[in-house]
Amino acid sequence: MTSDRRALPPGPNTPAVLVTLQYMRDAYRFYRKQYERYGSPFTVNTLRGPLVVVADPEQAKQVFTTNPDELDTWGADALDPVVGPTSLLLVAGARHRRDRKLLTPPFHGARMKAYGAVMREAAQHEVARWMPGDELNFLRSAQHVSLEVILRAVFGVQDGRAVLAWSAAITSMIESAHPAGMFFRAARVAPFGLGPWAKFLAARAALDAMIYEEIHERRAAQRFGDDILSLMMQARYDDGAAMSDAELRDELLTLLLAGHETTAISLSWAMWWLHQHPAKLERLRDELATATESEAIAQLPYLEAVCNETLRLYPIVSDVVRTARAPLTVGAYTLPAGVAVAVSIVTIHERADLFERPAAFEPERFLQKKHSPFEHLPFGGGHRRCLGAAFAMYEMKLVLAELLGAHRFESLGQERPVRRGVTLGPAEGVRLRYLGPRAPSRPSSENAKERRPH
Ligand code: HEM
Repeated sequence: MTSDRRALPPGPNTPAVLVTLQYMRDAYRFYRKQYERYGSPFTVNTLRGPLVVVADPEQAKQVFTTNPDELDTWGADALDPVVGPTSLLLVAGARHRRDRKLLTPPFHGARMKAYGAVMREAAQHEVARWMPGDELNFLRSAQHVSLEVILRAVFGVQDGRAVLAWSAAITSMIESAHPAGMFFRAARVAPFGLGPWAKFLAARAALDAMIYEEIHERRAAQRFGDDILSLMMQARYDDGAAMSDAELRDELLTLLLAGHETTAISLSWAMWWLHQHPAKLERLRDELATATESEAIAQLPYLEAVCNETLRLYPIVSDVVRTARAPLTVGAYTLPAGVAVAVSIVTIHERADLFERPAAFEPERFLQKKHSPFEHLPFGGGHRRCLGAAFAMYEMKLVLAELLGAHRFESLGQERPVRRGVTLGPAEGVRLRYLGPRAPSRPSSENAKERRPH
């Protein structure tokens, strides 16, 4: 990493610690301030050295269309303790290309769509836990839904009791993953087997034991289904080799970490925005009444626009970062190898020259104009663009259709985005009151009224 700021675009001389604090407190505001003062690209100091930030679609395109062999990850090692060293999130170059090729098929086309029923049932199971009048922390509800979807679609866990056991092990591991230990290697110590790091290691060991047992049992019984773990176990690299148990474990944790919280937050924001805008909610309900099959629902234009607008206003990931392995051209600059470059999703999404009245929730804008993948980029871009983007959009659409087509809610308060580790999410968890079922216009949602144990 070069530390010579003279070769880099201009930016504030604020010390790295302050930059980190301001970024953690409000990434939107921090980036907006620099962009308004310096334009794009600008440079900020970080604890890992200077970071060049891009807030312009043309420059984002330059980064995302750079030869993948000339880009590396940045800061991903913070996730290593959870996802493991062979995770797709951590590897680069030829290894990333090879692994991504193997993992891609289940997330596209007919294979991905086969998970539609799981997504709709998970939503129905969650509704079955509510009584009219219940106050919901909707983010928590959405987390139940997205965790059940991952467990069933990705891990292949089917029966309700097993879903609960796996949920408990996963929640315990995620909750014990203390941020200090993730970001500072020095905090990764467990003196006398005690302290937060020891707690995390114990929770991780318990979850790993469940994963390895599941893999061994399936292999022994040759019991493979349509789930993504089964597909990964049967997949072969170009040289004919299968994934090792450790690789399978790392990718399962990667999909869990990348896909669970992100989808839950985006669902929560969609519910929040829609309940601030009753006319738009009604327009969506009218559209939902025209489709019952999952594939037809997924093609509804206004529903798609609602999801896009939700992800534009509150993208779950504020920026994506690459390290240049070779000189990299961004705007008028040729950045030296070793420099880190961030594409600021939040800043591009709020540019008034790209999105009129950028602070307003206006799904209609996506019906009126097609935005390029460098203007609307909630899933990042280039060779590392979110592997689960189509899966996440499908899940958002089907879950929203289940909930809004058949049920009524009312908003109980205001919201704002706050940092939750790597992601940005709603500070209050989106508080909604469940008002009960709507007039039965959508028969698909009526078969799951049995209450499930909490
Ligand atoms: C609304 C929900 C989601 C959002 C907003 C989201 C966003 C993102 C973003 C911004 C990235 C980084 C892209 C880049 O570096 O250019 C990413 C990567 C990734 N996401 Fe998602 N994601 C979501 C859901 C999912 C789901 C459901 C899965 C899988 C079950 C998933 C799996 C992954 C994986 C494996 C990567 C790493 C890709 C790579 O490095 O090659 N994501 N996601």
